[in-house]
Amino acid sequence: MELSKMLLRLLPILLILQWAAAAAAAADGEEETCAGLVPMKGRAKTMWLTEFGGVGDGRTLNTKAFREAVYRIEHIHHPGGTLLYVPAGVWLTGAFNLTSHMTLFLAKGAVIRATQDAENWPLIDPLPSYGRGREAPGGRYMSLIHGDGIEDVIITGENGTIDGQGEVWWNMWRQKTLSFTRPHLMEFMHSREIIISNVVFQNSPFWNIHPVYCSNVVIKNVTILAPHDSPNTDGIDPDSSSSVCIEDNYISTGDDLVAIKSGWDEYGITYNRPSTAISIQRLAGSSPFAGVAIGSEMSGGIENIVVQHVNVVDTGIGIHIKTNEGRGGYIKNITVSDVNMNGARLGIKIVGNVGDHPDDKFNPKALPVVDGLTLKDILGVDVKQPGLIRGIKNSPFTRVCLFNVTFEGVVEKEVPWECTDVSGSSTEVQPSPCSELASPFGSFCVGEI
Ligand SMILES: *[C@@H]1O[C@H](CO)[C@@H](O)[C@H](O)[C@H]1NC(C)=O
Ligand SMILES: *[C@@H]1O[C@H](CO)[C@@H](O)[C@H](O)[C@H]1NC(C)=O
Ligand SMILES: *[C@@H]1O[C@H](CO)[C@@H](O)[C@H](O)[C@H]1NC(C)=O
Ligand SMILES: *[C@@H]1O[C@H](CO)[C@@H](O)[C@H](O)[C@H]1NC(C)=O
Ligand SMILES: *[C@@H]1O[C@H](CO)[C@@H](O)[C@H](O)[C@H]1NC(C)=O
Repeated sequence: MELSKMLLRLLPILLILQWAAAAAAAADGEEETCAGLVPMKGRAKTMWLTEFGGVGDGRTLNTKAFREAVYRIEHIHHPGGTLLYVPAGVWLTGAFNLTSHMTLFLAKGAVIRATQDAENWPLIDPLPSYGRGREAPGGRYMSLIHGDGIEDVIITGENGTIDGQGEVWWNMWRQKTLSFTRPHLMEFMHSREIIISNVVFQNSPFWNIHPVYCSNVVIKNVTILAPHDSPNTDGIDPDSSSSVCIEDNYISTGDDLVAIKSGWDEYGITYNRPSTAISIQRLAGSSPFAGVAIGSEMSGGIENIVVQHVNVVDTGIGIHIKTNEGRGGYIKNITVSDVNMNGARLGIKIVGNVGDHPDDKFNPKALPVVDGLTLKDILGVDVKQPGLIRGIKNSPFTRVCLFNVTFEGVVEKEVPWECTDVSGSSTEVQPSPCSELASPFGSFCVGEI
């Protein structure tokens, strides 16, 4: 092999080593990082998408090339794993699966672009914890990049782009012509040891990144973009998953930037798989909905969540915790700290009446438990209403604690905090909160102050 070609083949490994060094340097001195949760590693073997007939001209369909490459990686099963190198170019493709022990590497200038051929998009079964597609009964379209039951997978690169070309799907949603639930840009199910870093996601048809029934997932240093009027383009939705670390991401989309979930009503209660041990650090962005959301699908339970260093501008709701009667499950032990909001309709919203059921078989007596939420060191500027907390009458929210929370430039509401069916405490909160939270910061609160 000539020398230049050999150097090119070594490039991805060198890049990964460089990435690891940069990540280690960035981690130095930061209080909490994802480093260690999933080891970043180089791969012993590299394959190029072009070896499988891929053409990056933006017109040729590369579905077959991607599927064959993944098939080869799976069946060769090279010790140490294989890196699939996607060079600069626009690689139009339909949906494809990934496999274990592989890295999908998007070089600088590489764009993996989804075909807009919605009619021939593969369908997969609904998630058992949802009982149906999220927005239509029955199955759902497979995500553009999908993984089921796999492990040790890295998606990284040099800021290459995964482009969903979501417009056709958003229009079908707007015109109510969708037969099934729209595809995600990327979904992993029943998978572990996943790293997603240094790539751009844009214009997803639906939610962008959806790890469901997964563990040990790192999503780091990614950019996620979609227009503010694009429907349901959530950034990252960890769902019935544990040990998920989300840090140093910039997200600006048409729905929640990060939303932690765990299944829907009777289906989620039966499936009974919680989301736990999830941390979100250094998240920045903008959304007409929430910066960070928990729920509203939470029927498998959500607990042990740490959110810190969030910076949102021009956002609907800063922090949104949401559930409903019929959901069952719980939201427990949540700590949110160091949040900056610049321009928001509502600073903090915690409510038990979002509505929205999968069908009429839900049990209205299945009441969620919301207990142990600490929100501290929050500064909001130009926030129209500081807080709305609406618990559930027969299952009031408990131990909701606010500490060092300041909202400036509150203009539109005479009553800055509206609370019902909630108890807890508050210290150093401006404007002063509702009487339900009037007692000083108590030893019963979760987290440290
Ligand atoms: C993706 O993998 C699943 C099994 O994990 C399989 O059922 C499905 O046919 C695959 N789809 C494609 C398009 O390769
Ligand atoms: C973040 O990703 C960009 C490319 O997308 C890269 O240039 C930068 O080095 C990455 N930062 C870290 C800390 O890995
Ligand atoms: C990566 O691309 C995004 C989207 O184009 C851009 O906003 C971001 O600044 C880029 N990051 C780097 C490190 O070049
Ligand atoms: C609350 O969550 C934090 C963060 O995951 C964890 O360290 C702590 O042990 C949890 N506390 C309880 C009582 O479970
Ligand atoms: C209060 O929160 C702000 C951030 O909003 C932070 O800068 C400040 O240090 C906090 N004060 C205390 C006493 O923790």
